[in-house]
Amino acid sequence: MSANAAIQRHLVGLDSTLKDVVARINALSGDIVLVVNDDGILKGLVTDGDVRRAILRGKTTSSVVTEFMTEQFTSGRAAADHADNVKLLSTKIRHLPLLDDAGRPVAVLSWASLMRLPLVRPDLGGNEMNYVMDCVSSGWVSSIGPYVDKFERAFSAYLGGGHARATSSGTTALHLALVAYGIGPGDEVIVPDLTFGATANVVVHCGATPVFVDVDPRTVTLDPKAMAAAITPRTKAVIPVHLYGHPCDMDPIMDLARAHNIKVIEDCAESLGAEYKGRKVGLIGDVGCFSFFANKVITTGEGGMVTTNDPAIHEKMSILRDHGMSKERRYWHLYPGFNYRMTNLQAALGLAQIEQIEKFLAIRNGIAKRYTQRLLRVPGLQLPVQAPWAKNIYWLYSIGVRPEFGMDRDTLRSHLSVRAIETRDVFYPLHGQPAYTSGRALPCPVSADFAARGLSLPTGNDLTIEEVERVCAALEDIAHTQRMVGMAKA
Ligand SMILES: Cc1ncc(COP(=O)(O)O)c(C=O)c1O
Repeated sequence: MSANAAIQRHLVGLDSTLKDVVARINALSGDIVLVVNDDGILKGLVTDGDVRRAILRGKTTSSVVTEFMTEQFTSGRAAADHADNVKLLSTKIRHLPLLDDAGRPVAVLSWASLMRLPLVRPDLGGNEMNYVMDCVSSGWVSSIGPYVDKFERAFSAYLGGGHARATSSGTTALHLALVAYGIGPGDEVIVPDLTFGATANVVVHCGATPVFVDVDPRTVTLDPKAMAAAITPRTKAVIPVHLYGHPCDMDPIMDLARAHNIKVIEDCAESLGAEYKGRKVGLIGDVGCFSFFANKVITTGEGGMVTTNDPAIHEKMSILRDHGMSKERRYWHLYPGFNYRMTNLQAALGLAQIEQIEKFLAIRNGIAKRYTQRLLRVPGLQLPVQAPWAKNIYWLYSIGVRPEFGMDRDTLRSHLSVRAIETRDVFYPLHGQPAYTSGRALPCPVSADFAARGLSLPTGNDLTIEEVERVCAALEDIAHTQRMVGMAKA
C-alpha cells in the first residue's frame, strides 16, 4: 500500500457519525482515526478510548464526530527529522500525526510501532559467546569437537538419565527414531491432528501412513481415547506431541502401546523440562525427540536431540545419524544412514543454553502465572491449563478466543498487531492438508475447533513482566471497547 493510501484509511470527514468512526476504527483493527475538513486539514483525533468515553457520556451512534473528537492534539512535521518526531511520543501521546506544511496528515507515528513485541526472542546472555569463540579459535567448527559430547552429557544429566544424541534438527531426530524402529511402507503411525507438520512429514518420508487422531479439549494434546480407536494391526508407532509445553497423558498412552506392541516416540520439540507425574518428558516413551530451533525453550540455532533409555536403539540412532557407518570400521556402512549430526558450533550454544534451563523455566512459569492472573478477568478467553499430573512449561502461552470475547481470533490478531504485539495462530489441523492425502484421519472436531480459535501470545525466556502487562492491558482494552460499542444506543 502506498503511503498515501495508508493515510487515507485513517481519514474521516467532520460530518462523520460515531457509527462511521467505530466502523473505521474496526477496519483499522483499533488504530487511530484522523478527522479532516474539506481541504484535508487535520481537525481532530479519535481513539478507541475516545469512543468509549463518548458512549459513557451518553453519545449515540448518530452523534457527530465533532462532539467527541480530541481537538487539542500534538502533531509532528512530516519533513522533520524522525528522531525529533519520536521525542514527541510518550506514554500519554501514543499516536503522532505527521503533517505537511499545510496541516494535512501524511503519516501516523505510533508509540506501539516503535516498541514491537515479538512472539519469542532467544536469550543468549550466558556462556554462548565464550563457547562459540572457543570453537572458532580452536578450529573445531564441524560435528567433531568437544562441545557435542559435553552438550549430550549435560542434556541427559538434566533429564535425569538415559542416553542423548544430538541431531541437526527436531525433524531429523523424529526421522531417526522412526527409521531406527524400521517403520516403513504398510505401517501406520498415530499422530495428533494438532501439531506442527514435521511430526507427520517424517512418517510420510518413511513411506508409512500417518493416522490423524483428535486431541483432548483441555490440554489440546493427543487424546488417549482417540488413540485407542485408531489402533489397527498395522499400527507400529504413536507420536504423542507435548504441545505448547503441556505433556500428554502418558499412562494410558503407554498402556495402550504396550498392549498392542506399539513404539512410543515422544515429540518433545516444544516441551523441554515439562513433567508427567514428576517425570521429565523424553524418557517416558521409547524415544524422545527435542528441537532447538530459535523459538524453542533452548536453542542451538537449528538442532535437535534424541533420547532413550534403550542402549540398543541409542546405538542404532547414533549410527544412522552418522551415514549409517560402523563405529569400528570407517567407511563401512551398516545401514543407508543420514548426515543428521549437530555441529560443534551448535552444541557450544546448546551447552550454554542448557546451563540456564532452570532460569528459563522459572521465567516462563512467572510469565504464565501473570498472564493467567490478569486474563482470567477478561471474558471470552480460554486460558491454557495445567492438568493435575502435569508440569506445563508454557512454551507458548496459547489462548482460545471464544465468541463471548466479541471478535474472532483473526480480528483479535489484527488488533494486537496494530498495537505492535506479535501473536501467532495455532497450527492448522493436519488432516485434509495437501501434504497428507496419503494419510488417514479419524474425526477431529476438537482439533478443528481449537485451530480456528487458538492464538499464541508472546512468551519467551527474556520476556519481561512489563511486556506481559502490556499484552494483557491490550487484550483488556480491546475487550472493553467491544463491550462498550455493543452497548452504544442508536
Ligand atoms: C511439535 C514439533 N515437532 C517437530 C518440530 C520440528 O523441529 P525442528 O524445527 O527443529 O526440525 C517442531 C518445531 O519446529 C515442533 O513444534
